[in-house]
Amino acid sequence: MAKRRSISIVPPPWRPASVLDKWVEREARPISLRQLTFFGRLLTDTRLLGSANYVRLELPTRIAHRIRDMQTLPYAALVNPHINHVYDLYYSAFETLRKVPEIKTLKDNDKFCDIVREQLRDHLSVIPRLAMGVLEISEAIPSDQCDKLVNSLLRSRISRRVIAEQHCALTKAYHSPDHLPPAAKLHPEHGDDFVGEIFLRCNAKEIVQECADTIGNLAKQAYGPDVLLPEVIIEGADDIFFPYIPSHLEYIIGELLRNSFQATVERHGSKPPPIEVLICEAAQHVIIRVSDQGGGIDRENLPNLWSFSKGPERNRRLRNLEQVPKLAATLQDLKVPETESPNQKHDGKQTRFDHSLGSLSGRHPDLRLGIGLPMSRIFAEYWAGSLEVHNLEGYGVDAFLQISKLGNKNETLSTRTSMDA
Ligand code: COI
Repeated sequence: MAKRRSISIVPPPWRPASVLDKWVEREARPISLRQLTFFGRLLTDTRLLGSANYVRLELPTRIAHRIRDMQTLPYAALVNPHINHVYDLYYSAFETLRKVPEIKTLKDNDKFCDIVREQLRDHLSVIPRLAMGVLEISEAIPSDQCDKLVNSLLRSRISRRVIAEQHCALTKAYHSPDHLPPAAKLHPEHGDDFVGEIFLRCNAKEIVQECADTIGNLAKQAYGPDVLLPEVIIEGADDIFFPYIPSHLEYIIGELLRNSFQATVERHGSKPPPIEVLICEAAQHVIIRVSDQGGGIDRENLPNLWSFSKGPERNRRLRNLEQVPKLAATLQDLKVPETESPNQKHDGKQTRFDHSLGSLSGRHPDLRLGIGLPMSRIFAEYWAGSLEVHNLEGYGVDAFLQISKLGNKNETLSTRTSMDA
């Protein structure tokens, strides 16, 4: 009878470098909004292929780093079904993307865009899965470790989706019948205020107003049509334009307003005081302050404000979810097309309104994962901005959002934890 081989569960002290190890050794190459814009404005075959090959190498590199982070989790956390689902998704994306050979022709690039779009769709369940998984493993691992992990997973996810979507959008624009020569594309009369996903003329007041309208509608659905909603008073500079990805700003402002609406309506009922939004401009930043009189944050919830793994609101909401929703965290997530191919006919022109508010209005009014605030801070910091909340206990909250308006800062790929708050 053949002898049974014993299986060692202790890894040998030496082992040949795995494929993953080799990718983990590569550094990610961060990029700024300005670089993305200039690159996209002067599109030629060579530049488009350059962009394709940047994305081809960058996506598996960035995913490999996160897979390695997940591998350091305690066993109890990694076998959690939600965390495991995300791990498998990442591994399969890594395997698919790392095998894409160098992109040498526009046809290769079209095929690559099909793969990327499929990945973008497959990963729509990542955020709700993570939110639920983290809650379930929060007893197995320390909450600061948990928060650090989620922070880096989400930040990296934003970064991958930005470069992937930007490349797909540029490819689509390049294939469009009225693709204009670079000089013409710079002219605002042509409606080319978009370069891929980047809107060159973001206006804070316009975005706040649209978010306020959308959140007001969501509040009506949640509380009933007779609810008395607070007025949103917007003051300050209304003529500041800056390059930004609108869905990122909409996510943050939408979440801040949603918190303010909820707190104000629930505290004041029939006579809700206004929510005041002040917009001001500094040399390098646009600052947006959202002030409400919703009673502020309870002292006991304050330490967990930025935590993904703790907080009563999260627990209450997530434990009641029976199915994992396919939550689009941003509008970009929502608009990943189902079947479109990059060389499909398209008029090539985008307007601000093609991009408006799907992320907020597309969701069920009560589909909240309770991670809006920490997620908003990740979005704010991603393009070198910041988000702070000042609590006036018993009175209300002042949230300060700072946006870098020059577009010259690299994406922020490193993480911070709730402990740094
Ligand atoms: C994600 O959404 O998490 C991704 O990594 C998408 C990317 C593979 C295109």
